[in-house]
Amino acid sequence: MSEKKYSIAYPFFPKEEIEPILDKFRKILSGEEVLSMGKKVEEFEKKFSQYIGIKYAVGTNSCSAALEISLRTIGLQNDDEVIVPAETFIATASSAVREGGRVVFADIDPETFCLSAHEVAKRITKKTKAVILVHMAGLVTPEVYKIQELCRSHGISLIEDSAHATGASLDGKRAGSFGDFGCFSFYPTKVITTGEGGMLTTSNEDYYNLAHSFRHRGRDMNASQEVYTRLGTNNRMTEMVAILGLSQLNVLDRFIKARNKVASIYSESLLEFEQKEYVTLLKVPSTACHSYWRYIVRLNEKIDREVLRKSLAGKDITIDWAYDPPLHLQPFFKSLYGNKEGMLPKTEKLMKHFICLPIHQCITEEDARFVIDSFKDVVRDLV
Ligand SMILES: Cc1ncc(COP(=O)(O)O)c(C=O)c1O
Repeated sequence: MSEKKYSIAYPFFPKEEIEPILDKFRKILSGEEVLSMGKKVEEFEKKFSQYIGIKYAVGTNSCSAALEISLRTIGLQNDDEVIVPAETFIATASSAVREGGRVVFADIDPETFCLSAHEVAKRITKKTKAVILVHMAGLVTPEVYKIQELCRSHGISLIEDSAHATGASLDGKRAGSFGDFGCFSFYPTKVITTGEGGMLTTSNEDYYNLAHSFRHRGRDMNASQEVYTRLGTNNRMTEMVAILGLSQLNVLDRFIKARNKVASIYSESLLEFEQKEYVTLLKVPSTACHSYWRYIVRLNEKIDREVLRKSLAGKDITIDWAYDPPLHLQPFFKSLYGNKEGMLPKTEKLMKHFICLPIHQCITEEDARFVIDSFKDVVRDLV
């Protein structure tokens, strides 16, 4: 049993993808093709935007960069407020601070671990400039429609942090095509990877032109001369990254299918535990295609997840809880805003009682049964 088999993430390039990648790398290394941004980045952007079903895509060096560029593009400034869920990665909120805004943390919906329109609406003020909706773990919930409408009616930008949700969809519409911007991550723990890398998507031509320029140090991309008209930085993608991205895009649907198979084995097996109230599963609408970056299980409060983690580690099964602590209680935000425990009691409690089971494209049906049976054995002893 390899340790990686039951790990939380497993960056993977299928065997048949490796030779074509190396052939393309050889051309670059022998000087036939360029190293930095060129035709392959353009091709990746084009194919990615087609896959998402949106007009424009801008390749970046990370999702963090894509988030910052989105906020710069809408002109965030002077402590404009950005509503962000408390259950997310640091970059979702730090992007707002870096771009001169103020983060307003929101509770998540216990049934989905995502923002609800109700929690967003409560926090809208005259200063709200954007909502960053995180499709947590790869789930696009129907609340997206209500949040879209709220943003539209208040003149607020909607940014989808789709770092977990490459390939996820709701009602046949892919994550990254609901908001003014979609921001994707290709970090090795994500559904597809390029090592480091990200993508920004938008259907707005003006936003595209600005984002394209910001990614390129603020250069005027329509001028024939090299002139710079705004403050940007270098957030460009390299050709090597684009080659990896194109290859991963080829296998993305296959990866998602495999992840969904594992999830269905877990969900089916956990039904009896749900009836016994040992665990609670998240609500996935039948019209959603979940990308299952993570498989989240809420635990009965009697279960000590540290004990659970240690016991499963004995079988080479890794579980974790993304994210800990909740974002508003990260030291950076505690010192920036004076945030204290108890600020979002519902979310804080919720986030103490869940785990993520291993899920990735290389877990077979047999592996999934082993993982879930092992999990259940330990849980039985802990309730
Ligand atoms: C929800 C979320 N947003 C943003 C990011 C940032 O992605 P990157 O590492 O590509 O900058 C991550 C990465 O872990 C993430 O999980």
